[in-house]
Amino acid sequence: MKEYIGRILLSEDVILERVRQLGKRISKDYRGKEIIIVCVLKGAVVFLADLLRNLDIPADLDFIQISSYGNETESSGEVRISQNLTTDIEGRHVLIVEDIVDSGLTLSRLKEVLLAKRPASLRFCVLLDKDRIEDVKFDYVGFKLPAHEFVIGYGLDYAGKYRGLRYIATLESGR
Ligand code: IMP
Repeated sequence: MKEYIGRILLSEDVILERVRQLGKRISKDYRGKEIIIVCVLKGAVVFLADLLRNLDIPADLDFIQISSYGNETESSGEVRISQNLTTDIEGRHVLIVEDIVDSGLTLSRLKEVLLAKRPASLRFCVLLDKDRIEDVKFDYVGFKLPAHEFVIGYGLDYAGKYRGLRYIATLESGR
């Protein structure tokens, strides 16, 4: 079966406007503080780049790679850290920036790992939140998505493809 780009769910304009709002809120909430953004590789880099340019507070950066997906559209149920932080986050205000939350497994594991490093505070900013059965709350959420949709674009991939799309679309297959 061949996969292809399906319906556009979020246009470039809609995404950028929402990212601008998130940046404004985050800047307000952390006013007077310095934050360190931990960007979850690889999908969140496009979101990060736009979010960063909408912040007007000092923000340092670090990256972590933690994944529960292989090349499939279903979670493997396993989470592993494949690239760790290079900064000491103890006593710092940490904002995790993630592209999408599905089961919530990746972020709950990441939360455990980062809390063990004793940051001053830890918050989550996720662009897309799939409607899950468990009600996990995040501090900053861009958009809610139906749980059954697999989406691509704006950093999100399928088997390493489609990250460069300026919009977010569904992935379809079978043509
Ligand atoms: P979770 O651990 O089930 O919450 O899965 C989160 C991770 O799965 C994200 O960091 C993405 O890498 C990947 N993922 C989940 N849903 C999608 C999707 O619709 N498109 C692309 N990647 C996804």
